[in-house]
Amino acid sequence: MSDELKLTILKTLAAKGSIEDTAVTFKNVSSETVLGAIKSLESQEMVTHKTLTTEVWSVCPEGQDQLDNGSYEARIFHAVPAGEQGISIDELKAKFGAVANLGQGKGFKNKWLKKSGDNIVRLVDSIVDQTKVDLEAVLATGAHENKETIKELKRRNLIAPTKTFSYSVAKGAKFSTELKKLETDLTEDMLKGDAWKTAEFKQFNFDALGLSPRGGHLHPLMKVREEFRQIFFEMGFEEMPTNNFAESSFWNFDALFVPQQHVARDLQDTFYLSDPAEATELPDFWKTVRDVHVKGGYGSIGYRAPWSEDEAKKLVLRTHTTAVSSQILHKLAQEPYRAAKYFSIDRVYRNESVDATHLAEFHQVEGIIADKSMSLGRLIAFLDVFFKKMGITTIRFKPTYNPYTEPSMEIFSWHNELNKWVEIGNSGMFRPEMLRSLGLEEGVQVAGFGLSLERPTMIRCGIDDIRQLVGHKVDRNTIETDPACRLDKKTGKEVKVGAE
Ligand code: PHE
Repeated sequence: MSDELKLTILKTLAAKGSIEDTAVTFKNVSSETVLGAIKSLESQEMVTHKTLTTEVWSVCPEGQDQLDNGSYEARIFHAVPAGEQGISIDELKAKFGAVANLGQGKGFKNKWLKKSGDNIVRLVDSIVDQTKVDLEAVLATGAHENKETIKELKRRNLIAPTKTFSYSVAKGAKFSTELKKLETDLTEDMLKGDAWKTAEFKQFNFDALGLSPRGGHLHPLMKVREEFRQIFFEMGFEEMPTNNFAESSFWNFDALFVPQQHVARDLQDTFYLSDPAEATELPDFWKTVRDVHVKGGYGSIGYRAPWSEDEAKKLVLRTHTTAVSSQILHKLAQEPYRAAKYFSIDRVYRNESVDATHLAEFHQVEGIIADKSMSLGRLIAFLDVFFKKMGITTIRFKPTYNPYTEPSMEIFSWHNELNKWVEIGNSGMFRPEMLRSLGLEEGVQVAGFGLSLERPTMIRCGIDDIRQLVGHKVDRNTIETDPACRLDKKTGKEVKVGAE
């Protein structure tokens, strides 16, 4: 805001007592600029103002075109050569399109032109382009002395009524001809001395429109993930590092006693890496794992099937986060015995064809509990508490098969709206031959469970197509514009805060 304009306003007021109409006093300054200066002075009570509204006529785009290039009738008149021959109607049409018809009509009316057979000929030698003259008057003054002319120009869509604003200004309670620089902040320096006592502060403008905040709430998956994390932390779990998306088949399958002939290892189910295709080396206990696979051990008779080191080295995009759990358990085995609880929530990959309920990448929530006194009963009791914290109160289990756990249980939860049991996870007690090969001492039991993050999120948010949640079909717009939200523990429903 220029101080110059503000000073001019103050000086004019000092000299004349008031400004009747800023449109007259400040002809060359836009009304927005004038208003800005007035408002700034008004906030310091130096002036007061009233808005004056004036109805004026302004030239429309079509009118501007006729101002620039002549009216349609004038253009057509000049296109007709003098003499009896004139010009054919078809030629005019070809040259001027729709303008030809409009211009001819007006030309006939003005008695400039007439029809002669299929031709148009002139009736006069020269014309005055009155339409253009009238438009020039409107452009200069916003009005025209002849009311009929205004009516006609408006009918032809060449002009339209608009409002302009100007202001009358009077002296305010704290009028002065000097501009005061107002403080915007209470500073440390002011507080150290006495300056704060006399400082004058700029007023808050409570009418200012704030910037609307960018971005709504977290992605639903990240929200539910955060809730799971909090529950795990509450229950004493440590988070596993899951930043390696590529793992060797050894950690993803072999260490978990998934036989090398298992269907899950097929190309159709697992993404194998091509470059690099193999891990450079296997961990030092790989021979123990191989022997238990081939010949058995730790109470197991093994798979009695061939086992190849090359197969174990193949790199895969991890198909489950249990590939991380196996490594954490191996690390845990290097320390003196202690009970431990770990969890992870991260992406896994499966070579699935994508549909409304399947994705080639999704998130797994996984927990493992290592304890000498761990048992299936304790796992069931734990899962009961865990899911209750998520608002899932009724769960039940069904025996199932996992290569790495025995016994294994699928976890089902009662879904009120669907009125049926839905599978929400998988769990079990890790096999002794797996745990002993990883180096865990005799007597250490490990329970584990896993579930997808997408399934509970979809149930909570009422989403029925997983592709709306993950991948390229996610509508970024809803994520940016959604209001803040939390998940209601009692109903399991998303509660939007600030949505009403
Ligand atoms: N890895 C299993 C899955 O992908 C889940 C699981 C984890 C099961 C740990 C048992 C123990 O479904």
